[in-house]
Amino acid sequence: MEFISHSTQETLNFGKELGPKLKSGSVISLRGSLGSGKTIIAKGIAEYLNINEAIVSPTFTILQEYEGDKSLYHMDLYRISGCDEFELMGGEEMLYGDGITLIEWSEKIDEMLPEDTIYIDLTIEENQDRIINVKGLED
Ligand SMILES: Nc1ncnc2c1ncn2[C@@H]1O[C@H](COP(=O)(O)OP(=O)(O)OP(=O)(O)O)[C@@H](O)[C@H]1O
Ligand SMILES: [Mg+2]
Repeated sequence: MEFISHSTQETLNFGKELGPKLKSGSVISLRGSLGSGKTIIAKGIAEYLNINEAIVSPTFTILQEYEGDKSLYHMDLYRISGCDEFELMGGEEMLYGDGITLIEWSEKIDEMLPEDTIYIDLTIEENQDRIINVKGLED
């Protein structure tokens, strides 16, 4: 599935509309360059889950947990070295938990991602549009 977003708001709405298609235990890999909109999609999903807390970019904390209609685990692996560090911080548990898990910079732990991971790839166009490509979402 491919979608073109013309604004931050449209990307946020995209995340919000994705929400009902996600299940407890879903793992979503958000891929795309710095500033492509990964965290905006996370905010949209959080909005769907009725999470009132502000979603902050978890770059420095690496992992944030939120409670809404379902638990949301939001990770940003930009600053970790790879699988070893991920295991040491107990990340693997999150991949097989009851919450919805969103992972920015999941490239760092590619070989650890579950087989049914949903991949969302964002590309920045010259006019600032975002191409959003979704793979692995059952309908
Ligand atoms: N069509 C668009 N969709 C999403 N974001 C957009 C769009 N146009 C402009 N933006 C801006 O791009 C930025 C995207 O930031 P965001 O934090 O979501 O990126 P990110 O992919 O999470 O980056 P990082 O890798 O640094 O975590 C925001 O400032 C947003 O307002
Ligand atoms: Mg981000």
